[in-house]
Amino acid sequence: MASSSLDRFRITGGCRLEGEVTVTGAKNSVLKLMAASLLAVGTTTIHNVPDIADVDIMADLLTRLGCTVKHEGSVVTIEVPAAPLHRADYDLVRKMRASINVLGPLVARVGKAEVALPGGDAIGSRGLDFHIKGLESLGATAHVEHGYVIAEAPNGLTGTAIELDFPSVGATENLMTAAVLAQGVTTIDNAAREPDLVDLGEFLIGMGAQIDGLGSPLITITGVKELKPTDHTTITDRIIAGTWAFAAAMTQGDITIHGGRADHMEVMLEKLTHAGAIVTSTQDGIRVQMNQRPRAIDVATLPYPGFATDLLPFIIGMNAVADGHSIVTENVFESRFMFVNELMRLGAQITVDGHHASIDGIPQLSGAPVEATDIRAGAGLVLAALVSDGETTVDGAFHIDRGYPNFAEQLVSLGAKVSRE
Ligand code: UD1
Repeated sequence: MASSSLDRFRITGGCRLEGEVTVTGAKNSVLKLMAASLLAVGTTTIHNVPDIADVDIMADLLTRLGCTVKHEGSVVTIEVPAAPLHRADYDLVRKMRASINVLGPLVARVGKAEVALPGGDAIGSRGLDFHIKGLESLGATAHVEHGYVIAEAPNGLTGTAIELDFPSVGATENLMTAAVLAQGVTTIDNAAREPDLVDLGEFLIGMGAQIDGLGSPLITITGVKELKPTDHTTITDRIIAGTWAFAAAMTQGDITIHGGRADHMEVMLEKLTHAGAIVTSTQDGIRVQMNQRPRAIDVATLPYPGFATDLLPFIIGMNAVADGHSIVTENVFESRFMFVNELMRLGAQITVDGHHASIDGIPQLSGAPVEATDIRAGAGLVLAALVSDGETTVDGAFHIDRGYPNFAEQLVSLGAKVSRE
């Protein structure tokens, strides 16, 4: 996808969104599947891949590790050599946090990995201590030097019992993708339960891995000697589906979301129902209607199955125009609230105290120039612009391109006045 760092969205507010959208594959799944393809020599094929910038970045990273990657339509094929290289350079890793997911597969397959400490979104510090400690307990040596995590296990890894202090998605993924080739049994206690992680586990099972307990807090992995390439279809993106659900609720609209999985969004849909939305299941997704000004609702973000941190900008945006007062608490990333300063430029009445935002809903926001600081903040500002009086420009469109294929086009098809410049 071509996008320039100077691109911005221009939005004229005051539209009710109505129509249908189709949700494609989940970014947070497909990037991890691509990284895990390193575990098997040969050609792995992934279907339902979204056309987003982060897929191109992961393809570049894998190419530098010696793979041949083809991305045609919604299909990615990755040809993995017998001896991949082991260094993931800073210039690519800094663009995308998910690059860290090559760490586990490289240590397991090549016996060595040097991966730059990631940058990624400006949503807060995102430690790697669980990844490093977990690899060490699997028998690797690991340390940080000159901005790189260097992990080595020349004689292979050995299964062990790991307990995470927090159900980190990234750490569970890296440790699971390392343990699949370890000798013996590994357990990961307090593991993440996100649908994207379950998708990765099923992808690994397709490669021949032995994994039990996916979707529960205790994952058990029995190591195997070798994995084989696989053919896998990615699950649909629950965060994009959630974005459209909030778009319907905020604009008092009516959107049918093809591919939206209600079973992956239970807490969020319950919250939207409390806000006054009518949520119904359709043959291949969900429909969200809102026939009144939303009611303000209190929300705290939590690891899955809790309310996703990625949806924070949308709940705050909706509450900013809702009827009543609300408190939104962020429990995963301390700097997500950077987005609030931009939303306040649109007139939102919000005070932040630590990890709580206190929001007084007003009937309408007021258009102004604002800037996206990360993927979800960017999309959240575009939705807020739809319920603002007059014109809003959202700078930093490239952030949105990292996660949302054809966002502006889809909004226009729903009746929004949005252009890209
Ligand atoms: C997180 C989200 C995930 C979301 C993704 C993209 C959670 C639990 N995770 O995953 O749902 O899709 O962002 O926005 O909501 N941490 C450490 N040490 C570590 C690893 C993590 O302290 O070694 C901390 C982080 O700083 C953070 C928390 O644990 O506060 C969650 O991190 P983690 O789940 O690993 O983040 P992501 O994998 O990026």
